[in-house]
Amino acid sequence: MKITIARNEKEFDVTAAWRIIAQMLQKPDSVIGLSTGQTTINMHATVSQIHAQFPFDVSRITLFNVDELTNLPQEYSGTCYRIILNQIARPLGIARHNFIMPSTTADDFQREARLFEKRLAERGGVDLQMLGLGANGHIGINQPGTPFESETGISSLDPDLEARLRRETQTPSDIVLGGITRGIKNIMHARKLILIVKGSHKAEIVEKAILGPVSTAIPASIIQLHPNCEILLDAEAAARVVGKTGHL
Ligand code: GLP
Repeated sequence: MKITIARNEKEFDVTAAWRIIAQMLQKPDSVIGLSTGQTTINMHATVSQIHAQFPFDVSRITLFNVDELTNLPQEYSGTCYRIILNQIARPLGIARHNFIMPSTTADDFQREARLFEKRLAERGGVDLQMLGLGANGHIGINQPGTPFESETGISSLDPDLEARLRRETQTPSDIVLGGITRGIKNIMHARKLILIVKGSHKAEIVEKAILGPVSTAIPASIIQLHPNCEILLDAEAAARVVGKTGHL
């Protein structure tokens, strides 16, 4: 595990953005997985700004998001499709066929999940997955207790997350919110993982995820076993790991 600590939030956002740009420049047909949430907003904006200022070829880049909400129209403002489209796919000019997402509405979400994986496999698998970290240690929407061998499929949302999403997306209570997430096994198959975490509110879960035992109680802890993994933190998120690992 490589651990990188940015001195402040700005340095964190720029460093994270350059990880994505470097991947795009080094392998112009890269398949890159993204994550939504507060953590990634400025990173996506920075990639978009740098691309606007210094354009480079992204015509063969494939983008996707690690998870998606279900039972909301795809055009709804809170879907991962819309968030990634607005924050980075559209600003970069990624073609629709190179932006792979599961559908938010389907009769059979398990089939939808298999189709999502098939489309990623047809592109040669995932080169880079940028991963956010949930407050309870989740990655994607894989909640604590999810088996490490879980595969891409439907997941329920924990009550806090559901309440937050419902609030953020103004989803009425009669719509059952759920999600499709790439499974932990599928996430681990990416050739490179970068876990990005910022803010003092994540310091404790960062410590558990990267210094604690590898356990399904903290889904993100599995990345300790990934052979090509970087943890990118800002100083606040790193507060409880500084000085406790041989890396720092
Ligand atoms: C949601 C997403 C995750 C993301 C997490 C972190 O749960 N499904 O993919 O990593 O939020 O969100 P934030 O960055 O807002 O803390």
